[in-house]
Amino acid sequence: MQTTTLSFKNQILEGIPEILPESKPFDANINHAPKRKAILSAQEEKLALKNALRYFDKKHHRQLLPEFKNELNTYGRIYMYRLRPDYKMYARPMEEYPAKSKQAAAIMLMIQNNLDYAVAQHPHELITYGGNGAVFSNWAQYRLTMKYLAEMNNEQTLVMYSGHPMGLFPSHKEAPRVVVTNGMMIPNYSKPDDWEKYNALGVTQYGQMTAGSYMYIGPQGIVHGTTITVLNGFRKIKKEPKGNLFLTSGLGGMSGAQPKAGNIAGCITVCAEVNPKITQVRLDQGWIDEKITDLDELVSRIKKAKAEKETVSIAYLGNIVDVWEKFDVENIHIDLGSDQTSLHNPWAGGYYPVDISFEDANEMMANNPELFKEKVQETLRRHAKAINRHTSKGTYFFDYGNAFLLEASRAGADVMSKNPTIGREFKYPSYVQDIMGPMCFDYGFGPFRWVCASGKPEDLAKTDKIACDVLEEIKKNSPEEIQQQMADNIQWIKGAQDNKLVVGSQARILYADAEGRMKIAQAFNNAIETGEIGYVILGRDHHDVSGTDSPYRETSNIYDGSSFTADMAIQNVIGDSFRGATWVSIHNGGGVGWGEVINGGFGMVLDGSKEASKRLKQMLFWDVNNGISRRSWARNEGAIFAIKRAMEAEPNLRVTLPNHVDDDLLETI
Ligand SMILES: NC(=O)c1ccc[n+]([C@@H]2O[C@H](COP(=O)([O-])OP(=O)(O)OC[C@H]3O[C@@H](n4cnc5c(N)ncnc54)[C@H](O)[C@@H]3O)[C@@H](O)[C@H]2O)c1
Repeated sequence: MQTTTLSFKNQILEGIPEILPESKPFDANINHAPKRKAILSAQEEKLALKNALRYFDKKHHRQLLPEFKNELNTYGRIYMYRLRPDYKMYARPMEEYPAKSKQAAAIMLMIQNNLDYAVAQHPHELITYGGNGAVFSNWAQYRLTMKYLAEMNNEQTLVMYSGHPMGLFPSHKEAPRVVVTNGMMIPNYSKPDDWEKYNALGVTQYGQMTAGSYMYIGPQGIVHGTTITVLNGFRKIKKEPKGNLFLTSGLGGMSGAQPKAGNIAGCITVCAEVNPKITQVRLDQGWIDEKITDLDELVSRIKKAKAEKETVSIAYLGNIVDVWEKFDVENIHIDLGSDQTSLHNPWAGGYYPVDISFEDANEMMANNPELFKEKVQETLRRHAKAINRHTSKGTYFFDYGNAFLLEASRAGADVMSKNPTIGREFKYPSYVQDIMGPMCFDYGFGPFRWVCASGKPEDLAKTDKIACDVLEEIKKNSPEEIQQQMADNIQWIKGAQDNKLVVGSQARILYADAEGRMKIAQAFNNAIETGEIGYVILGRDHHDVSGTDSPYRETSNIYDGSSFTADMAIQNVIGDSFRGATWVSIHNGGGVGWGEVINGGFGMVLDGSKEASKRLKQMLFWDVNNGISRRSWARNEGAIFAIKRAMEAEPNLRVTLPNHVDDDLLETI
């Protein structure tokens, strides 16, 4: 056993060390993943241990076997805590990584950002967000992957099977440096318990969207989208945000963006959160303004905020159901309501039952999962009932893509529409059906993002300015249909520096359409060529126009029946990979749950070269227009408009357009 004295670079190059590092004590100050439920039979436990030990030389097996067995029994998974590196985990400037390929160095930076303690939800369990969004399943996979990246050249591709680095394979310069798959299952084995079992066996993982694809940029990634949603939500109910109330829940990885977005939009936000540690983190980070632990105090505070038309965000430390019920009794009018607990993961810590303490719930989840499930479902029914009372008084409620309505319906809650139509089975819309889909995705607007690989805040400021100039120029000739989007995005990028959104890498998110993304990327590449800025890594959230097939979220505003197909996401990742992406990823699960969605994404390193310029044009054009064409084929008006525009701009694009049938004719049969 050894305590390392190696430099950072040498520790990366060491991979899995010959001599095992000292075992590490469990650090109670870190936010840890909940204990996963015991699901393996005795025989399967042996298989999980055998699988874990294959990362190590035989000479270590005797020592590691009891340790891994203990981890499996205590935490439900084998994380190999002993192998957690000693160096600080954060996105270093690209040059600090040992690498033969600069593209590979950029990927290392992105991986370390996803595991940064300031960014990741459960850093020691390699979980970035969403309770189970894993970058890797264990620390051996992390170490091996970093070593491969350090050693690879630009004629190789690293193949990642659900966190496991299968190895380096010969390819070519223009090929992706990394191809990632996460959670790809034979379709019949995609139920939540299949994840529990096969993840415990160490053969698959839940990559969420940007966790297992190395593209997470902290809560900022979602603040912009959430701001757009809140702003457009208020527009939809024809109310000013000022002095009006938005009630929601969750201060986690993504949900933590809600109070900040509420402040940017200018409303009063109340966000309930059961986890005291996370609540404190968000308060310390300035992502919420105030924390309240007493319901009566919350009621008087809201009355005051409404009377004084304040812009303020308040965290309520406790269960969201209590807030909905209390506000009903006290007649506090909620203008906009939503929920961002992690209901894609309802039985393993995504959603906490009411009337049970946080600690007791954690204990029950691990030791009495059946009772826990009952309590969750009981809570969902109460939750929906309280929401229904508010909506009958005029609240506009929308599902926030967290499978709230889906799980509530499965729990028997009163959330089904009285007059269902295909795709509109629930009483309430999802935010994509009413807001994101028709206003953004159908026109190609989605969560484009970039990271400055130099790690310099000055570079980020320069890229903000470049992007803003590009959008202002495009807006001058934009059609009426997208003027509001352009204006919102310009306002966002202008305020981005002041809003101090960076947590972790020097990253920026900016909703943009295909034209915007391509022109911004080209302008960055030019600035890199002239030495004005360092390398830039482009990417996006999977939650986008083309990246994700998810019938209850990204594709929930597609009503031709194809929302239950996943051709778009698969086509997207294949198309991106041969058009110049530096890495691509395709995942089962993400957001709404294992088996409920297929989603993919990419990363692209800009180095100022002519090749990069060619790649960005080819790939970004496809990456957006693939989804627009599919949305247009589904007869979505905005998408038909957008794809016709794209065909006018690019003669090589020829898309099949739908013909409309008269409803009267259909009625004759
Ligand atoms: N913002 C968006 O646009 C968007 C996009 C994609 C997905 N989502 C979905 O939103 C959900 C949240 O994502 P996240 O990354 O923040 O997950 P997370 O697990 O990090 O955070 C959820 C938080 O909800 C809290 N919580 C659970 N039950 C509660 C209850 N009954 N009352 C109060 N708090 C409770 C948890 O303690 C946790 O901190 C996910 O299902 C995600 O897929 C949102």
